[in-house]
Amino acid sequence: MIKIAIMGYGTVGSGVAEVLQKNASSIAHKAGQPIEIGRILDLREFPGSPFANRFTKDFGDIENDPAIAIVVETMGGLNPAYDFVKRSLLAGKSVVTSNKELVAAKGDELLAIARDRNLNFLFEASVGGGIPILRPLDQCLAANEVYEIAGILNGTTNFVLTKMIDDGASFEDALALAQKLGYAERDPSADVNGDDACRKICILASLAFGRHVSPSQVKTEGIASLTLDDIRYAEAWGGVVKLIGRAKKLEDGRLYCLVCPMFLPKESPLADVHDVFNAILVRGDAVGDVMFYGRGAGKLPTASAVVADVIDEVKHLNRRKSIFWEKGEEGYVIDYREGRDKSFVRLRCENPEATWAAMTTELPGCQRIRAEGVPAGEIGFITPFLREQELENKLDALPGTQVISRIRVADF
Ligand code: HSE
Repeated sequence: MIKIAIMGYGTVGSGVAEVLQKNASSIAHKAGQPIEIGRILDLREFPGSPFANRFTKDFGDIENDPAIAIVVETMGGLNPAYDFVKRSLLAGKSVVTSNKELVAAKGDELLAIARDRNLNFLFEASVGGGIPILRPLDQCLAANEVYEIAGILNGTTNFVLTKMIDDGASFEDALALAQKLGYAERDPSADVNGDDACRKICILASLAFGRHVSPSQVKTEGIASLTLDDIRYAEAWGGVVKLIGRAKKLEDGRLYCLVCPMFLPKESPLADVHDVFNAILVRGDAVGDVMFYGRGAGKLPTASAVVADVIDEVKHLNRRKSIFWEKGEEGYVIDYREGRDKSFVRLRCENPEATWAAMTTELPGCQRIRAEGVPAGEIGFITPFLREQELENKLDALPGTQVISRIRVADF
């Protein structure tokens, strides 16, 4: 029998307790011994809960209990989760977390503490909810040089975009529905402005490329400024708009990493990922492209990944799993203005045909897109591959125009 503690009895934490109870016998078989919830840390009261006698408001009851070998952190946020996780490791307990904010900010430090104490720190649920991605990336794809990862990493924004694309819903109505269905973060701004996806691509990039990538190094754009007109242009071009987290290894070893809405051709495997589903495309030199797909949010899908990590930690109580990455480094992630992409550009102009003529002279190879139902007095086009900074310079040089939208175009 092994005792664990759960810190945070919200959606995910209560899901973990539910799955551990519901599947207790098969979990015990897989773990090699029964798993018992010794303590649950939460400031709230849960009088009718089957675990009512195990709740505590004092982290010391977990930290100082030598019988608790594994701590599950499902509180979310940096504080006090960071302090409690670090102290749990320092007290000799392995930790499982679903907290992407914590791993994206402090993963390198917590992994090093775990390594130095022969403990495990696992966080499969922090990216893609119930989708197995971190363990496959670390183990099953270990033979590869992974050179790019691109994913739909946020269920709320994918749901919102799906409603806009399929039903012509407004951004506000679609977001309100996502909140009603419980997909959005407590503060949905982290979903909408791309911060949630940013934390997840940081974790993926850190694991895949072996060095910590911090959210402050990643240019992050959300979906709040996308309009139905942008979506009409994407449709006319032959694709869709998705919020993509992307990390690409450059020849000099540095990373091009960003979160932004992108035009995806309809043939892209990521273009067919709808509603709250997430998908992560991994490109390796031996395996080619592989895609991981499933529910990226929700109580039981996320609990599924957390409990699997707990089982793995029970099986590896005195042995370390390989999951690890080195400290980050300034300059390791390039300035996004140095990154090269094709872009979709919408320009409001006094004289659209004259602007188009000037644009094609300034930047040969642009492809005009004519969409139905978009306002007069503007042009939309796709640029050739070029550095962000070059594009900005060229657009600045066009007289009598104003940039309405600029959306990068995926090559996957
Ligand atoms: N709010 C997140 C999402 C939950 O919508 O994907 C999972 O991290």
